[in-house]
Amino acid sequence: MRSPAELDQADPLARFRAEFFLPAGQIYLDGNSLGPLSRRAEAHLQRVLGEWRTLGIGGWTDAAPPWITLSEAVAAQVAPLVGATPDEIAVTGSTTANLHQLLATLFDPAGPRKVVIADELNFSSDLHALHSHLHQRGLDPARHLRLIRSRDGRTLHPDDIVAAFTPDVQLAVLPAVQFVSGQLLDVAILTREAHARGVIIGWDCSHSIGAVPHTLGRDGADFAFWCHYKYLNAGPGAVGGLYLNRRHLGRAPGLAGWWGVRPDRRFALAAPHEPAPDASALYVGTPHLLSLAPLLGSLEIIAEAGGVPALRAKSLALTSFLMELADRELAGLGFTIANPRAGHERGGHVALAHPEAWRICQALKAAGVVPDFRRPDIIRLAPAPLFNTFADCAAAIARLQVIVRTAAHEKFPAQRALVT
Ligand SMILES: Cc1ncc(COP(=O)(O)O)c(C=O)c1O
Repeated sequence: MRSPAELDQADPLARFRAEFFLPAGQIYLDGNSLGPLSRRAEAHLQRVLGEWRTLGIGGWTDAAPPWITLSEAVAAQVAPLVGATPDEIAVTGSTTANLHQLLATLFDPAGPRKVVIADELNFSSDLHALHSHLHQRGLDPARHLRLIRSRDGRTLHPDDIVAAFTPDVQLAVLPAVQFVSGQLLDVAILTREAHARGVIIGWDCSHSIGAVPHTLGRDGADFAFWCHYKYLNAGPGAVGGLYLNRRHLGRAPGLAGWWGVRPDRRFALAAPHEPAPDASALYVGTPHLLSLAPLLGSLEIIAEAGGVPALRAKSLALTSFLMELADRELAGLGFTIANPRAGHERGGHVALAHPEAWRICQALKAAGVVPDFRRPDIIRLAPAPLFNTFADCAAAIARLQVIVRTAAHEKFPAQRALVT
């Protein structure tokens, strides 16, 4: 095993660490929850604030680039991250709001197939959206929302997913990367299997965008949605994104608003709604300029770093190193690796399971490493390729070892307060 120093020295992305503001004295392994601020993101935000200060409303047309087409400009840069063409992308809303919009646009409650499937491990907000959408469309979520069960409580078996594509299913929503175990599903194969059974399929890419290269267009996925505040470091609550496969372009948006009108008719301010011919038909209202701006900085950095394939190569090296160290240094201390080990089955984080995970997370934070905890027993460690080092991984595992060996975690409360 090479030393962390040797690995860091050979790291072609090492220079990007200096682009980020990392919390002083801490090893930040939580970029899969909230990515840190970069100098570039800050500069773009400051620039837009300056334009607002000096141009006022004139910023819509006279800023550089003009605010009025900024979402489309950003969409063009996001498109390669998911393997789409720019006209299939809208940069807007939040993850959950985008799922609502896609369901409202694509799901047909009058069709012969009325069931929507997701999985029981899916992020709560996606399930809330599915539940409420069915309810709003006059269907009974108890009958029409079906959840694929997990065999082990952590991962989904591809056979169980395919078996769920039954003739009464119209639409499926699955995570590209499962947010707790980090399991990476095979988007291409599952999309093909869904289509072979007449099922429309969409992907929650919140935990994969910027971490795992996607080829949504080539895979034929019907739709996808995601946030930009995790591996894309666009800031807390940053604007989200959605993908609508070109075979669905030209549809009327389920949730219509003036920003989804054909750009040349938008300021006609007239009914009826004339939808834009591409995914921008799914915009609803005025773009979120101040949360778009930081994303420009993040996208610049990713392009300079060689795109997502370059990030993925380092991410796999970091997570492999972390797992090797965990196997060696944490043996006998009650940890198990809960993410799939194979590179093609894991996303950007390592999930360590431990019966005392919550207390250990608190102790690790107190020891200067920022992980996060997911119920019931997972410590997520996400070494992000743009700013984490192999030395960060080694330090995190060394501190975990000391914590459990010395029972340092036992000083911390065993129960997590519900609000956090
Ligand atoms: C996998 C996944 N889906 C959906 C969401 C909800 O995102 P938002 O709050 O942007 O709607 C999150 C938030 O962390 C998430 O991790």
